[in-house]
Amino acid sequence: MDIARTIGTFREARATLLPPVGLFPTLGGIHAGHLALVDQARDECASVISTLFLNPAQFGEDEDLDRYPANESEDLSSLEKHGVDLVLAPPSNLIYPKGFSTNVHVRGISDRLEGDRRPGHFDGVTTVVLKLLNITTPDRAYFGEKDAQQLRVIRRMVRDLDLPIEIVACATVRDPDGLALSSRNAYLSAEERTAALSLSRGLQLANDAFIAGERDANRLRNLVRLELEAESLIQIDYISLADEETLNELDGELFGKGLLSLAVHVRETRLIDNVTLG
Ligand code: PAF
Repeated sequence: MDIARTIGTFREARATLLPPVGLFPTLGGIHAGHLALVDQARDECASVISTLFLNPAQFGEDEDLDRYPANESEDLSSLEKHGVDLVLAPPSNLIYPKGFSTNVHVRGISDRLEGDRRPGHFDGVTTVVLKLLNITTPDRAYFGEKDAQQLRVIRRMVRDLDLPIEIVACATVRDPDGLALSSRNAYLSAEERTAALSLSRGLQLANDAFIAGERDANRLRNLVRLELEAESLIQIDYISLADEETLNELDGELFGKGLLSLAVHVRETRLIDNVTLG
């Protein structure tokens, strides 16, 4: 596996790779959920590249940038074991050189849910992702359904700007007890992890009710709310049932598909999860 620290060395190595080339971009803190994306890219593409960059621009001032559980040598070793051909692991000043003043904003869909709670977060994501796509020029880029809104925001950006890249969505990977894998699970104590199981339980209850015929958006949201409220360590940030594509909040009856998503704090740790109904 080649590791490039500059755009020049990355592009030189990139030029030797056979197409189609699949990209797995990551902040680091790589876990089995990430590696499922790498494995899917490995199965579907002749070459796999990755970017490893803990992007400060997508973290708010009071968020966890300083303690984010990324470890470069462990992350590189995981990528190598899973057959990645080439990694761009740039220093921060390569991505944000002095005088960098561009901001990519996807209107509407970026402003709801996570965007509303974490102002500037999606601008940080779309600005760096566009830059990384321009540097790495993949044929396909792989993103997890776990970050459902991020996936939709990036799809919208790629569509709006006619980038010649296929965005591939990969299913959320869960522990056997239902907890969605996340780098931030590393912050949870045993007691907090037990409380966090109510996220997937609540979503599952609503999904079961949907399958049994429940279509009332408020009742579906309330099933999740009741499950979360039963856990004293959990503070609800939002529970949303929204149009699958636009993420506009739904009222009344749900026709077709809906994205049921939530964000909570388990004491200090903020977690998100989601399921698509229908
Ligand atoms: O999902 C992530 O790990 C990050 O948001 C991404 C897409 C690598 C951009 O920094």
